[in-house]
Formats: sequence, structure tokens, C-alpha cells
Amino acid sequence: MTAAHAAALLQGYWQGAHLADPPAYLDRLRALSPVLYDPGTGFALLTGHAELSAALKSPFVRTGKVGGDSAFLQSESARLMAPMMLFHDGASHTRLRSLAQRAFTPRVLEESRAFITALTDELLAEAARQARRRGGEVDAVAALAVPLPVTVIVQMLGLEGHDADLFRTWAGSVADLIGGLNMTPERWAGVEADAGAMRRYFRTLADDLRAHPRPGLLSALAAAEDGGERLSGDELLANAVLLLVAGHETTSNLISGSLHVLHAWPQERAWLAEDPGTRAANAVEELLRFLSPVQGTGRFTVAPLTLGGAELPAGLHLSLSLAGANRDPRVFEAPHRLNLARENARLHLSFAAGAHYCLGAGLARMEAAIFLTRFLARFPEYRVPEQPLDYLPNFTLRGLRALRLNLA
Ligand code: HEM
Repeated sequence: MTAAHAAALLQGYWQGAHLADPPAYLDRLRALSPVLYDPGTGFALLTGHAELSAALKSPFVRTGKVGGDSAFLQSESARLMAPMMLFHDGASHTRLRSLAQRAFTPRVLEESRAFITALTDELLAEAARQARRRGGEVDAVAALAVPLPVTVIVQMLGLEGHDADLFRTWAGSVADLIGGLNMTPERWAGVEADAGAMRRYFRTLADDLRAHPRPGLLSALAAAEDGGERLSGDELLANAVLLLVAGHETTSNLISGSLHVLHAWPQERAWLAEDPGTRAANAVEELLRFLSPVQGTGRFTVAPLTLGGAELPAGLHLSLSLAGANRDPRVFEAPHRLNLARENARLHLSFAAGAHYCLGAGLARMEAAIFLTRFLARFPEYRVPEQPLDYLPNFTLRGLRALRLNLA
């Protein structure tokens, strides 16, 4: 490999050249090296499974605070993001995460099962009604994949009516903030305005919720204590917003992507449809591996370290391609084949690994399994008509804008 070749591929990656066909581009990068480091561009891109796992678990690799120039750091958006647990390491991360985990227990999850099932059935019934009016067709993104996870998390947080509507609007801005591509100045202004509105709204909510608890995670988060420590208003806001955004864009993309790839792999779909009750759990793991709804994340090194044979200096930005690791042929045999019975599917890194391992993995798994089971029982013959596939312009969260299904 020449340094210039590696630099060109890395440059292309940053310019979004891989978005047309991420697995193919990531294969080319991994074939050059699973840890592609170009001192010229000042960052390394990791696409190998072992290397990503090691980086995500290394004490010398950190997520890092929200950074940028001083204008950005003063912005409403930076202030909104700074207390999110995603951007904390060590003791301050443990504190934020354990407070949130106290509110987000396995019991809370189990209690949501009946609600998720009933909501799924309601959405499927409504989709069937829409399809009857429109020659059998429905947009699975708008009718199913978006409303299911957002309604679940809004309900779990305990938001109602107007609050719930506000949060739905804000969520799109936060998703753009975390991974949006080519944000125009107008879009940036809109995101800033939403971030400001969210911070104002929450300024007093933490105190209100402590004084007058409502059912749901928000009150539980406001009340959660750790050695006398509580979340401040800004911390409560940031982490509630994180739960909301982390909890719906990702799961929406998993659901719509699953409907699309199951159609593209009819034998796999038939295998699942035969016995979804027992097969859905492993199928969801394989779909997570295959789709990588969160394509990647970032870290930086705090000490020199060697990864995959590459010597990396301290202070280096690492771009971790979860999608790359999930198609690594050294771990997954025939990685570009969807194999719902794959024995080691659960080794995927779609929920990352280490200290920041997805807090909502259990919820996401449950939602996807319930959804697929109920959907296939109701629409075993669904078809995906020929259509151009348009992905949302986001580097991190990969999802379809729309997916027309024929349910007749
Ligand atoms: C298919 C669905 C989902 C995927 C693929 C996914 C993926 C991820 C990934 C990759 C991370 C780690 C990011 C990093 O280390 O930089 C993460 C963290 C997180 N996720 Fe998820 N997620 C999903 C659903 C959810 C749900 C449903 C929730 C909650 C309702 C949630 C809440 C969180 C939180 C709070 C974190 C931060 C954890 C921390 O920093 O300690 N996620 N998720």
C-alpha cells in the first residue's frame, strides 16, 4: 500500500465516498489494513473486528468531551450535548451512566413488553387500513419504523401530549447534531434554536419532577441518587434527550432496513416466518450485524499504543467503523451473506463494546423481535416493489427515508 493510496481512500471516506455502498468501500479499506493510519490526515480508521474491540475496551482510548472552537463551545448545541454520558469518560461517565441505569432497569423493560406488543398491533392494523386505501401500498418508514420506537421511548420517559410532540420535533435536530452531513447554515440555525428551546424547557423540569413525580423514566432519572448525588437540570435534559434520540432513530433504521433485506433474501425470510417465536432473537442479532444501524463512532488515544500492528501516537483521532467490524471475514464467514441462523451473529459490534456499550440494547432487541414476529404473522406475503432507495444524509445513523411495501 502506498501512503498516497491510503490517504486518498481515507479522504474519500471523510467526503462520504463510501455512502453509495458502505460494505464494498469498507472491504477495500480493511484489505489495505484493519487499522489505516495516515499521519498526514492525522487520524486512523479502524475496520477490523479485533482491532475495534480492543480500541473500545482500551484504557488508553477515550470518547472525549464535546469539542470545537470557542464559538461552538458557547453554542446552545454544545451545552446541550456536553453532559450526555456518551461524551464522558472514567468516573464522570460511571456516575451519569449508573444514575440512568437505575431508572432503566430490566424490570422497567419487561413492564414495557405488553405496551410494545399492543402498539405494534395497532400500527400494523393502521398500516393495513392505509394500504387498502392506496392500492395495497404503504410507506413502512412513516407508518411503522418511525412511530414504533419513538412512541415507545416517549411513553417510557413519561412524556405526554404537547411535551411528547415537542420532543419528537427536537429529536430530529439532535440526530443532525450527532451525525448530520453537510448542514446548511439555515439547518444549523434551526438546530441551535431547538437546542435553546430544550434547555429552557428543562431548566425547571428537574425540580418540578422531584416535587411532583409522574410515572416514567424522567421522574425516575430526576429522583435517581448515587451517594447523595443527583443529576442537575442540564444533566437530566441531556441524558433524557440522549435516550430519546439514541432510542428511536437507530431502532427505526433497524426496522425499515430489516423489512428491506428480508425481502432481498427470501429463503432467510421464509426460515424466520416458519417459527418467528423462537427464531426472531437470533435473526435480530444477524440483522443488527448486517445492517449496522449505527455505522461508526469516534474516539481518541490518550497514550501511544499499538493496534493491529499500527503504532498510534497519543492524541490521535480514531474513527471506528462498526459497520466495517460487522463484515470482517476473519470473524464472520461469508460476511456479506444474510444468515439469520448464524451461530456467532451476537458477536457483532452494532451496540459497540466496553464502557459505552449501548444502554438500550435490551429494549432495541425486544422491540425489533416483537415487531418482526407480529409483522410476519400479519403480512407473510408482503412485497417490496422496485423503487430507488434513498438513505438519510447521515454519516453515523444509516437509514432509509422511505420504503414502499405492498401488503395486499
Ligand atoms: C438498533 C438500535 C440501537 C443501536 C444500533 C444502538 C447503538 C449504540 C451504540 C453503537 C452505542 C455506543 C456509541 C459509542 O460508544 O460511541 C450506543 C450507546 C447508547 N445507546 Fe444505543 N443503540 C440502539 C438503541 C438504543 C435504545 C433503544 C436506547 C435507549 C432507549 C439507547 C440508548 C443508548 C445510550 C444511552 C447510549 C450511551 C451509553 C454510554 O455512553 O454509556 N440505544 N448505542
